[in-house]
Amino acid sequence: MKILLMGPPGAGKGSQSERLVKDFDLTSISTGEMFREAYRNGEQLGIEAMTYIERGELVDDDITNEIVRKRLLRKDAERCFLLDGYPRTVTQAEALDGMLKKMNSCLSAVINIVVDKTAILERMVGRRVCKQCSATYHLSFRPPKVRGVCDQCGGELYQREDDQLESVQNRLNIYETKTNPLINYYDKRGILKNVNGMQSFADVYADIKRALRDIT
Ligand code: AP5
Ligand code: MG
Repeated sequence: MKILLMGPPGAGKGSQSERLVKDFDLTSISTGEMFREAYRNGEQLGIEAMTYIERGELVDDDITNEIVRKRLLRKDAERCFLLDGYPRTVTQAEALDGMLKKMNSCLSAVINIVVDKTAILERMVGRRVCKQCSATYHLSFRPPKVRGVCDQCGGELYQREDDQLESVQNRLNIYETKTNPLINYYDKRGILKNVNGMQSFADVYADIKRALRDIT
């Protein structure tokens, strides 16, 4: 199964993928996570990417396509994977098509999590993420058992650099202009599945599972 999880910033892609990768035994490929990890490790790629991320802008297509190309070549991505947040532009979608074609492969389904703009702001402002394992929490909607501490690994929770209001608004505008066209791109191929993201975590997950029922 090769899935793409898409949706605006704060839609719940990361939260849902945490469970999906475990239940379906998928390799998680999140470009946002890859950039943040490279930044934490002091790698040049991460430092460069963070200059875009902090402002809420998209990292350059060539840089992004190249890290995904390399990631897809690794053994654990051969059979099943879940892409979170890539592709985000038509140029990236075309590049991904090319990569998969070379591997004699293609996407099985595209899950689009649909949410209202008002909910997005509330979700982003309250989000906290584990520095160690990247597990995602929300101060009101999914609070950790101990304030500031990850339930899963005991790591410290922090607020992402791009969760400031100005950056969030910029990300939303960019989503509308650059990423939204992908909905049509995948719908035309008949692999798009819209899921209502304005529900509880469990109900969104149940709808995603339902949408994937007949997918192999
Ligand atoms: P990325 O990390 O992918 O950020 P994003 O797409 O903006 O999405 P988020 O991670 O902010 O939100 P999410 O949908 O994962 O929501 P989450 O589950 O955390 O990318 C970051 C940056 O990297 C980009 O802006 C760009 O600069 C760069 N980048 C990445 N990929 C790129 C690409 N392909 N090309 C170019 N640049 C790229 O949930 C949000 C909050 O809501 C959490 O607190 C959660 O607990 C809560 N929540 C989730 N679901 C629910 C629910 N059902 N009910 C209540 N609360 C909920
Ligand atoms: Mg995410």
